[in-house]
Amino acid sequence: MRKPFVAGNWKMNTDSHSSVNLAKAIVSASVEIAGESVAVAVCPPFVYLQAVTTAISTSSIAVGAQDLYYEQKGAFTGEISASMLKDIGCAYCLCGHSERRHVIGEQDELINKKVTAAISGGLLPILCVGELLEERQANKTTEVVTRQIKNGLAGLSVEKVSAVTLAYEPVWAIGTGLTATPQQAQEVHALIRGLLAEMYDSHLAEEIRILYGGSVKPGNAAELMGQRDIDGLLVGGASLNADDFVAIIQAAV
Ligand code: 13P
Repeated sequence: MRKPFVAGNWKMNTDSHSSVNLAKAIVSASVEIAGESVAVAVCPPFVYLQAVTTAISTSSIAVGAQDLYYEQKGAFTGEISASMLKDIGCAYCLCGHSERRHVIGEQDELINKKVTAAISGGLLPILCVGELLEERQANKTTEVVTRQIKNGLAGLSVEKVSAVTLAYEPVWAIGTGLTATPQQAQEVHALIRGLLAEMYDSHLAEEIRILYGGSVKPGNAAELMGQRDIDGLLVGGASLNADDFVAIIQAAV
């Protein structure tokens, strides 16, 4: 049985005060459900990670980073390693978010190194995949998502892949208010689960969590979560408002 998982990706938002206040407000409003019935994580910007992990260390809400670098240490100016993230109390790390793929220019090969390094460093990677609008319109969704998953997980054993959470985030639905319909999302989630069964085995495919992301709001969360293969939600904009994020957590139970 897959426990639902809701993660908030704060992207490049908040400041030193609002990050801590937001995290505390989420903790206090979700104390009854977070941890027990639904796993919850927040992913603040790097510079606020430590303040947030300290502020909510006694809660059952986990903290994740939005990115990492795959080397362990050394002359990599501006980069952050898995061990540094682990050191300050991070549990999760997003890898291959669409904004890193399409704004920063990350490719599958780099993303695969990041997923691998996250696992080796004791973090739980959330590998994000999803097609662009023109790819969907050209009927290339299956091809793109299959390539991103195969390349993103390349070289990882079944044991290592069991540390991974996948997130399907159609790029055209991110920050646009255009949510994939529950049926559109379910179709891709089922495709991903089938692919994992082919690549690994049916046990892993049934155990692994696949989140949906892209304009998730309190009003559409329950219907998305009602789909067989949607195990959780990766929330951007709505995770910056504690009431909305907690309403989404409640809808996921
Ligand atoms: P929005 O919820 O703002 O569309 O962002 C989704 C996302 O990119 C989460 O990682």
